[in-house]
Amino acid sequence: MLNIQLTIALRSELLRIAMRTHYCGELRADHVGKTVTLYGWVDRRRDHGGVLFFDLRDRTGILQIVSDPERTPQSYQQAEDLRSEYVVKITGPVSCRPADSLNPRLPTGEVEVYAEQIELLNQVRKQLPFQVSTADAEPVREELRLRYRYLDLRRDRMSRNLQLRHQVLKTIRRYLEDIQGFIEIETPILTRSTPEGARDYLVPSRVHPNEWFALPQSPQLFKQLLMVSGFDRYYQIARCFRDEDLRADRQPEFSQLDMEMSFMSQAEILQLNEGLICHLFKTVKGIELPQPFPRLTYAEAIARYGTDKPDTRFDLELVDVSDLMKDSGFKVFSGAVAAGGLVKVLPIPGGNETISNVRIKPGGDLFREASEVGAKGLAYIRVRDDGELDTIGAIKDNLNQEQKAELVRRTNAQAGHLLLFGAGPTGIVNKTLDRLRQVIAHEQKLIDPNKLNLLWITEFPMFEWNAGEKRLEALHHPFTAPYPEDAGDLKTARAEAYDLVYNGFEVGGGSLRIYQPELQAQVFETIGLSTEEAYNKFGFLLEAFEYGAPPHGGIAYGLDRLVMLLAGEESIRDAIAFPKTQQARCLLTDAPAAVDPRQLKELHITPASKPNAKSAP
Ligand code: AMO
Repeated sequence: MLNIQLTIALRSELLRIAMRTHYCGELRADHVGKTVTLYGWVDRRRDHGGVLFFDLRDRTGILQIVSDPERTPQSYQQAEDLRSEYVVKITGPVSCRPADSLNPRLPTGEVEVYAEQIELLNQVRKQLPFQVSTADAEPVREELRLRYRYLDLRRDRMSRNLQLRHQVLKTIRRYLEDIQGFIEIETPILTRSTPEGARDYLVPSRVHPNEWFALPQSPQLFKQLLMVSGFDRYYQIARCFRDEDLRADRQPEFSQLDMEMSFMSQAEILQLNEGLICHLFKTVKGIELPQPFPRLTYAEAIARYGTDKPDTRFDLELVDVSDLMKDSGFKVFSGAVAAGGLVKVLPIPGGNETISNVRIKPGGDLFREASEVGAKGLAYIRVRDDGELDTIGAIKDNLNQEQKAELVRRTNAQAGHLLLFGAGPTGIVNKTLDRLRQVIAHEQKLIDPNKLNLLWITEFPMFEWNAGEKRLEALHHPFTAPYPEDAGDLKTARAEAYDLVYNGFEVGGGSLRIYQPELQAQVFETIGLSTEEAYNKFGFLLEAFEYGAPPHGGIAYGLDRLVMLLAGEESIRDAIAFPKTQQARCLLTDAPAAVDPRQLKELHITPASKPNAKSAP
């Protein structure tokens, strides 16, 4: 009986709600004369000498509602009681706004609705933590936005970002499934740890004491197994978890568009992916991207920009002068080269005027940027107005005429140029000059915000030296295939790996995979992993490869990063509905949090120390 009553109540509730005729943001001059029913939140209310105006907001936009004591006397009293964020249902005719109150900034700015009926569906019972209306709102602190995320998501900016994200996902799904014949397959969230570089988030098993699942850092191994199973075009919108240091473009929990394909060459994979990215930009941004995308080898990217994710919307290229400086009397330079490092220059046109000595010397902001990535100091030379090099200190007396002339030639130095030098270990020099290149480009507004820059980085080295552990490690992951012509000497081999870089951000990366057990064993040996250890870690994959593994390769895109860039945002948090902070906390739910000691006991875990005392959310 109770159930029947509940069903009837629910159904009538649904009928009532189903009476919406339009969303607020849809109404235009063509709707004038129609009577509409709208649902939404009161954005803000204004009293213009007795006539009440308020904006009604839903996820599509805002619309002006009018309540006039003469024209709509029946609803006027309710309109007077409305306050910001009250939930209402409005019915009334759409009218043209008078010529002097058109609002060209609003898509609905030509029309308004006279509220013949106002139904108050719910009120606000607590003081709002911030003004939800963005009409004339002050910027809100991010902590507050994240703590009350559901209110923040009502606001225009986040609402637009999430709708864009939805569009991106929908477009990708339609393209991959309907045009390219991919199928989506879900892979486990409770799994074994995959060797991808970051720390794992671990989940204890209650039924298997002292054994742990790991949350996936990516579906890498499962997607390779799916290739062995014959699903030759797989994709998944996959949630990934990595316990690593956070930055503006990283989250501990993020989403990948993960893809794997069999029987395709690297060229075919890149072509298919360019098709996908072009279709995405065309559909969600109306932008035609030129094809093929530019490509840079890893070696070239590092040489010219000091990074494997260069922003090539502006020039400022680095110049290697190690050979020139190795015999200079300036010990900082010659010593760096002798120790196996580098001397590189970042030539900055007009830098003489814009960058003072104070900024480059200890205590200065550019010095600080450099030292944050490990540089000990920054040498520099200025080109005077007469074209002569204005050297300082020890450099002054230690460069001969020939060296100076060659430096000018290679760096194309002209009057007014500032030459900033990085000298030392290769990695530090590149990191330093990459960082300074970006800081200076932003400061000197060298980046055209309307410019769009997508490029592939290819031919990564298979391995890089891990100085801490004194061993080679895989640059991508140990399943990445070397170029066949390089397989003779794996240590120096180039990998068939590729990254997609978008305005200086790595938005995707992938590779062709090894599918022959013999080659895989050699790679493990090169990174110092014994056969036993390898089998212990991912024997299931190696075993699967014994049963007829096809040649295959794939890629994964960071969806949150992609949406962040498409939305023109600078933080990945603005592309995610409920993100974590830079300290890996959820301010809304206050997670992570202590749990009941009984839960820990069941999981066979003894807490190491008392959890921090925290204030209630
Ligand atoms: P990779 O580790 O390069 O490759 O990850 C692919 C893409 O995922 C995004 N990404 C992140 N986004 C937000 N927060 C993070 N913490 C984060 N870490 C990575 C980046 C990156 O380009 N299995 C391989 C792919 C493959 O080989 O097919 C992988 O995960 O945009």
